[in-house]
Amino acid sequence: MAKYIIRGGKTLNGAIKVDGSKNATLPILAASILCNDEVTLTNVPRFRDVFNMLKILNALNVETVFIDEHTLKINAKNAKFQAIKSDLSRHIRSSIFMLGSILSRFKEASIAYPGGCDIGTRPINLHIKGLRELGVDILEKHGQIKCNAEKLHAGTVVLDFPSVGTTENLILASVLTEGTTTIINAAKEPEIEDLINFLNSVGANISGGGTSVIKIDGVSELGGATYKIMPDRIIAGTFLIATAITGGRVELHDVNSEHLSSLISKLRQNSCHIVCLDDIIYISSQGRLKANSQIETQVYPGFPTDLQSQMLVLACVSNGNSVITENLFEMRFKTVPELTKMGAKIVVKGKSAIVEGVNKLYGSDVYATDLRGGVGLVLAGLKAEGYTTVHDIEHIERGYFELEKTLTILGADIKKVE
Ligand code: EPZ
Repeated sequence: MAKYIIRGGKTLNGAIKVDGSKNATLPILAASILCNDEVTLTNVPRFRDVFNMLKILNALNVETVFIDEHTLKINAKNAKFQAIKSDLSRHIRSSIFMLGSILSRFKEASIAYPGGCDIGTRPINLHIKGLRELGVDILEKHGQIKCNAEKLHAGTVVLDFPSVGTTENLILASVLTEGTTTIINAAKEPEIEDLINFLNSVGANISGGGTSVIKIDGVSELGGATYKIMPDRIIAGTFLIATAITGGRVELHDVNSEHLSSLISKLRQNSCHIVCLDDIIYISSQGRLKANSQIETQVYPGFPTDLQSQMLVLACVSNGNSVITENLFEMRFKTVPELTKMGAKIVVKGKSAIVEGVNKLYGSDVYATDLRGGVGLVLAGLKAEGYTTVHDIEHIERGYFELEKTLTILGADIKKVE
């Protein structure tokens, strides 16, 4: 199993371009199977989850080819239905919103229960409930989800919770369904807006992206387009937090600072200096930070759960005490034992981690168990005294491409060892 070996204590300095968004790419890939003409996606990230999703598309006889490092051509005209085998769907959570797409295209679907990060039970009851309210017959048996959409119709669905994946699935299930479908209490994440912008660019008629009420006027067919994937706000946030922790001056290029308002506000409270200018964010930090007393993860535009693990590390080395509350996923404090090995002082009580900031972390052998927790351990290693080895980094490579190379460009001492 590959690992990172990090010698801590270096500050981060320099400029990098942020990759395209994993969580925008995945639903847009699912949507591409509905297009009659060729789709060209630019700014596509080369993360493991993206390649796993392409395996699912290829299994449906969809042609996909990278014509350069980040430009992907997709042609779904010869797509044909088949059940998505568990060896594929259990790899990534995003296979679940293949359901909406496949139902729109083939009127039937069969997928194994999806996998995903080890951050919680990841139920799909809201997906199932919403699809049934739009007329889909769904049978859940022996870990398989079998659907029939002959009676799929437009309608109004009120979500019990603004679930990102459920919102995406319902949009994909109704984009080619005659009539107007309305989703109330829809998720407002920027990745939903990117999916809607992509669909409208190939001929859909969807409004309300970024709000809690989304209206989909079904159309008879979708064409093709060239579309640029939005920047990955979680990767951008990860590098902002890394710089805050290590100290230094970093410029992030090709980012949308509006997507990071809640994080930027917290980092300014930590005494970081941050300037946002067009698609660049400048951050400088002395490395010893004032603690944020309280951080609560919320749905967008609140503080993102996908940056919680990274901010937990920042809290560990800040001046003062912090309380970090995780409201979205029930198992997103799994790095606590690893950080404790490094000298962190954290007590987990229910949904909250109570952190007493310490002057120093010490290098150690630590083990990644999920994507964002794993990258949090890398940030801890960048700060810690001595050497840190982060094991099981395939979790991290699901959502970060050549992380060690990017950090090395910024001055970190980090090596990847197979
Ligand atoms: C998406 O997951 C992201 N993944 C997650 O990013 C992100 O953390 C999450 O949204 C929240 O922003 C992708 O886009 C591929 P949800 P998703 O449905 O769609 C509960 C990463 O690190 N829920 O909004 O699965 C669920 O348990 C990943 O890139 C139900 O109860 O998130 C959770 O508590 C991790 N029933 C809450 O809603 C359902 O049917 C949020 O889940 C569905 C969800």
